[in-house]
Amino acid sequence: MKGSLLLAAVSLCGLALAKSNRPAPHRLQARDVDPTELYPGHNISVPIDHFHNETKYVPHTNASFNLRYFFDASHYKPGGPVIILQSGEADATERLPYLQKGILAELVNATNGIGVVLEHRYYGTSFPTANLTTKSLRFLTTEQALADQAYFAQHIVFPGLEHMNLTAPNVPYIVYGGSYAGGFAAFTRKLYPNLYFGAISSSGVTEAIYDYWQYYEPIREYGPPACIAAQTKLINVVDNILMKNDSATVQQLKSGFGLETLTYNDDFANLVSYGISGWQSRNWDPAVNDPSFSYYCGNISSTKVLWPSTSAMASTASSLIEAGGWGNETATLTNSFLNMMAWTNDSYGVSSCDGPLNSCYDNHNASAEMYTDKSIDNYNALSWAYQYCTQWGYLQTGSGVPKSELPLISRLLTLEYESLVCRLAFNITSPPDVQAINKYGGYNISYPRLAFIGGEADPWRPVTPLATLTVPDQLNRTSNASEPVILIAGAVHHWDENGLFPNETTSTLPPAPVAQAQKQEVSIVKEWLTQWK
Ligand SMILES: *[C@@H]1O[C@H](CO)[C@@H](O)[C@H](O)[C@H]1NC(C)=O
Ligand SMILES: *[C@@H]1O[C@H](CO)[C@@H](O)[C@H](O)[C@H]1NC(C)=O
Ligand SMILES: *[C@@H]1O[C@H](CO)[C@@H](O)[C@H](O)[C@H]1NC(C)=O
Ligand SMILES: *[C@@H]1O[C@H](CO)[C@@H](O)[C@H](O)[C@H]1NC(C)=O
Ligand SMILES: *[C@@H]1O[C@H](CO)[C@@H](O)[C@H](O)[C@H]1NC(C)=O
Ligand SMILES: *[C@@H]1O[C@H](CO)[C@@H](O)[C@H](O)[C@H]1NC(C)=O
Ligand SMILES: *[C@@H]1O[C@H](CO)[C@@H](O)[C@H](O)[C@H]1NC(C)=O
Ligand SMILES: *[C@@H]1O[C@H](CO)[C@@H](O)[C@H](O)[C@H]1NC(C)=O
Ligand SMILES: *[C@@H]1O[C@H](CO)[C@@H](O)[C@H](O)[C@H]1NC(C)=O
Ligand SMILES: *[C@@H]1O[C@H](CO)[C@@H](O)[C@H](O)[C@H]1NC(C)=O
Ligand SMILES: *[C@@H]1O[C@H](CO)[C@@H](O)[C@H](O)[C@H]1NC(C)=O
Ligand SMILES: *[C@@H]1O[C@H](CO)[C@@H](O)[C@H](O)[C@H]1NC(C)=O
Repeated sequence: MKGSLLLAAVSLCGLALAKSNRPAPHRLQARDVDPTELYPGHNISVPIDHFHNETKYVPHTNASFNLRYFFDASHYKPGGPVIILQSGEADATERLPYLQKGILAELVNATNGIGVVLEHRYYGTSFPTANLTTKSLRFLTTEQALADQAYFAQHIVFPGLEHMNLTAPNVPYIVYGGSYAGGFAAFTRKLYPNLYFGAISSSGVTEAIYDYWQYYEPIREYGPPACIAAQTKLINVVDNILMKNDSATVQQLKSGFGLETLTYNDDFANLVSYGISGWQSRNWDPAVNDPSFSYYCGNISSTKVLWPSTSAMASTASSLIEAGGWGNETATLTNSFLNMMAWTNDSYGVSSCDGPLNSCYDNHNASAEMYTDKSIDNYNALSWAYQYCTQWGYLQTGSGVPKSELPLISRLLTLEYESLVCRLAFNITSPPDVQAINKYGGYNISYPRLAFIGGEADPWRPVTPLATLTVPDQLNRTSNASEPVILIAGAVHHWDENGLFPNETTSTLPPAPVAQAQKQEVSIVKEWLTQWK
């Protein structure tokens, strides 16, 4: 998707640096029935403005909007819970696979519950306003969206089940979320404990940080060592050349990547930094996995020239490495560098851009459509960006890495660069109000019947309550039945969320730690439900 290649920073649930700060769609799996055919969408009418006492929502409105949800009551038996999977910063149809056979399906099957995928305001089809001007976006705050979720539990009447009162607090409500939605699930339990009886926060980001350079530290720690070594050295070569400002060498460097028509050095540095950020989109299930990280690493770790067309550039590459301060290692770095150039060009060069390179990758252009198009169709570019510009931060910089370390991405990727969208799309020039999020508890958030699940190698772990845990069990947080903590060995981003049908588990998938976590989550919820009166 071309538009999504433009924005700064890595999305929470998805793909790659500077491509977008929104989730990559979890690809629907061709092997199954398309879940959009199984679960039709429904709307519930919800107030646009839950907080008439707060001046930031002026002018207020008493109007309502359609919040979309999907549900499956096929496992339901009276007395069972309603289990909501909050879909977060995405079109909720991207989460439907989890109703079909992921964690949500497993939980409702085990508890005779109703499974619900609930969309978040300003995503998918759930828009409170007719457009996305900065003024119209004023109702896009985490607290308003949390209030939507509370309202849902109090007012829902499920189509086909009109004869039953399935609202909270008559019926136990449990919420599950992964990533942003994981933080959201934790906040829901803490803010609305009388409506939501329990919550599972998976890879739940609860601590908002403006400069989130630590995003790359788990990749440094758990990524393939040869790949990480090559990456840090080659990025340092690139940075040293760009920072010397010698225009001839800079031009030679850009040409090596086939990106000489890109005007800004930071946009160039941004593209060169893309490959390594594919780490987050890895998954244990090959049907969900994005292989780009392993291809990228395979390329830059290789000692062979993998793209024959680049052989002719070997001496140029060596001299660039020398100019970049690593002349002592040209023997081992030259082929890596050639492969890095060719891989980047193949993935993001002229052939993947429908127009001049600047039209695809220039983040400085105030008149670019991604910034100026205020129609709701442009929510992929605007909604999550607005949320991180105003409240969440999470700008993944290279500049923030301490000087004693070589960063995995370019140091030209600064707060100023990563926040261009804030200024150019929204005219926001001050840092986000992270306190609006961290007031819910940040790293230390805690509540009875609130579970934290996370991946050991998740780049988002440093902003979750599991930040300081180590595998296997040196836990700062002690796990107990009420507030369980599960750190999944070797896992990345909410690997417990997707699953398989029972008839698929005879293969080697999912890996034991993921299967174990999913089983534990089922037991946790069953145990909580024994406390329901
Ligand atoms: C739900 O609301 C959206 C937006 O108002 C609308 O486009 C859609 O048709 C509605 N869906 C149903 C099933 O009513
Ligand atoms: C507005 O009301 C909510 C509860 O509905 C409360 O949590 C919040 O503190 C109030 N804000 C102000 C500014 O009084
Ligand atoms: C919303 O409704 C209340 C009660 O009817 C009224 O007092 C208030 O002025 C209305 N607010 C807006 C913005 O229309
Ligand atoms: C539901 O759970 C039962 C056992 O508790 C299991 O045998 C069955 O395969 C599960 N079905 C699905 C669709 O997960
Ligand atoms: C956005 O919508 C509001 C009404 O909700 C309208 O007043 C305004 O003119 C619209 N702006 C644009 C740029 O479409
Ligand atoms: C469900 O019951 C609650 C009281 O327990 C009541 O306030 C609410 O109106 C009822 N909802 C429906 C749809 O009947
Ligand atoms: C290179 O240019 C940048 C931006 O113009 C400037 O900040 C930096 O100090 C320059 N570096 C050198 C070594 O001249
Ligand atoms: C190099 O990258 C290409 C394109 O992504 C990929 O097809 C190939 O398998 C990679 N080579 C290695 C050794 O990983
Ligand atoms: C090459 O030079 C770099 C940068 O000065 C240094 O960090 C590295 O250890 C040297 N490599 C070898 C093999 O000596
Ligand atoms: C941007 O915001 C500033 C103050 O925050 C204001 O003075 C200026 O008019 C705004 N510019 C636009 C184009 O809205
Ligand atoms: C977590 O435990 C480690 C090791 O015992 C300790 O160094 C660290 O300070 C603890 N962190 C917190 C936030 O308690
Ligand atoms: C596996 O189970 C699913 C869900 O019950 C079903 O749709 C699918 O056809 C089954 N696959 C096979 C190979 O039996």
